[in-house]
Amino acid sequence: MKTIGVAILGLGVVGGGTYKILTEHRDFYRRTQNVDISVESVLEINRERALALGIEESKISDNIAEVVSNPNVDIVVEVIGGVEPAKSFVLAALHSGKTVVTSNKELFCKYWYELEKVARRTNAGLYFEASCVGGVPIIRTLIDGMQANVVHSLTGIINGTTNYILTRMTREGLGFDEVLREAQALGYAEKDPTADVDGFDAAYKLSILASLAFHTKVPLEKVYREGIRGISSLDIAYGEELGYVLKLLAIGKNDGGGKVEVRVHPAFIRKDHPLASVNDSFNAVFLQGDSVGDVMLYGRGAGALPTGSAIVSDIIYAATHGEHKYATFKNTQLPEKGVRFVTDFNSRYYIRFTAHDRAGVLAKVAGVFAKYNISIVDFIQKGEDIDRAQREESGDNIPVILITHTTSEFSVRRAVSRIAALEDIVKVNSVIRVEN
Ligand code: HSE
Repeated sequence: MKTIGVAILGLGVVGGGTYKILTEHRDFYRRTQNVDISVESVLEINRERALALGIEESKISDNIAEVVSNPNVDIVVEVIGGVEPAKSFVLAALHSGKTVVTSNKELFCKYWYELEKVARRTNAGLYFEASCVGGVPIIRTLIDGMQANVVHSLTGIINGTTNYILTRMTREGLGFDEVLREAQALGYAEKDPTADVDGFDAAYKLSILASLAFHTKVPLEKVYREGIRGISSLDIAYGEELGYVLKLLAIGKNDGGGKVEVRVHPAFIRKDHPLASVNDSFNAVFLQGDSVGDVMLYGRGAGALPTGSAIVSDIIYAATHGEHKYATFKNTQLPEKGVRFVTDFNSRYYIRFTAHDRAGVLAKVAGVFAKYNISIVDFIQKGEDIDRAQREESGDNIPVILITHTTSEFSVRRAVSRIAALEDIVKVNSVIRVEN
């Protein structure tokens, strides 16, 4: 039976979960995978934390050089997060020819090419299933399960914190700030929530997933990004009236002719869309392949055991496969020649504005839309029946909500700035994309 020694760098939530799975399932993997995997070393400054998990004193180290030079270690698991010191530690492991398994999406999406170059040179494996969508096996699905297909699109709810916040805003009609504060108090959201609520976390993951799905490097800076801080529960309620649910979506599209679109932003989707029922902190990814058609994966995108599950699946993969798999595209720092990243994408739009309650206002607004060739599919104008919250936001003016047909992002931006400048318009409150 093959024996594999593992080192875990960082015994936080994911490191602890990984250790638990590896130790509790050791016999199971011996039987089912014909491999004996043992934890030979952990890099952890907090010795008490390691001892509390039952790790032998002799296996605890605070020195990366000692860990990567340990001859009993074959695979190094990096679950520290962030760029440094994780990057130096991963490079040290790869330089020593050790296979690396990481959950670090920021490090991976920013330095994939550099890490892969070293890994190829030293013939080390580089695995990152846990970097995207936690326990959901999306990376292996893209690399192995979907390889027969040209993947045309990938749409995901790939950040659990924002999905939890939007779900509560939807269910309880609460404001963003209130839900965020509660989520922080309960430990669901970080003290500094920027990475999650401003869409960085989802953008890191989308850059990795779209690169794999479309077989071309999608650099992070090509991902258009908007977060959920500006979302009002009023818009969620109006959207609901029109048959939509609001989600923070990560969208990748590939037209097959060199045009790639990658964006993270809040978007309305119809209530019967498969992603509409993905609630709370759950994640899901919806793929469209040319042969298979629609595929959806759903599960936990974070947490000790779900993310530990993804880490251990990589350990087993590396332990049971002779040859390592690297990116299927030319992995450089720059986008591939001939690939164009589209910024003027097409979508439908939900637009809410507040207008003076006067004759002819809507005709003027319609005139602006007509000038930009934007056609309107749905429309709500609130008169006497607006409730107190809406009254507070609009005063004695009227809120108007409309949904456009599919049109270009740039046309909408231009039309909206013209509408905002009209004399009878008090404010354009929100512009939210509506995805099919
Ligand atoms: N912070 C992430 C989320 C989990 O909220 O989904 C780790 O990627």
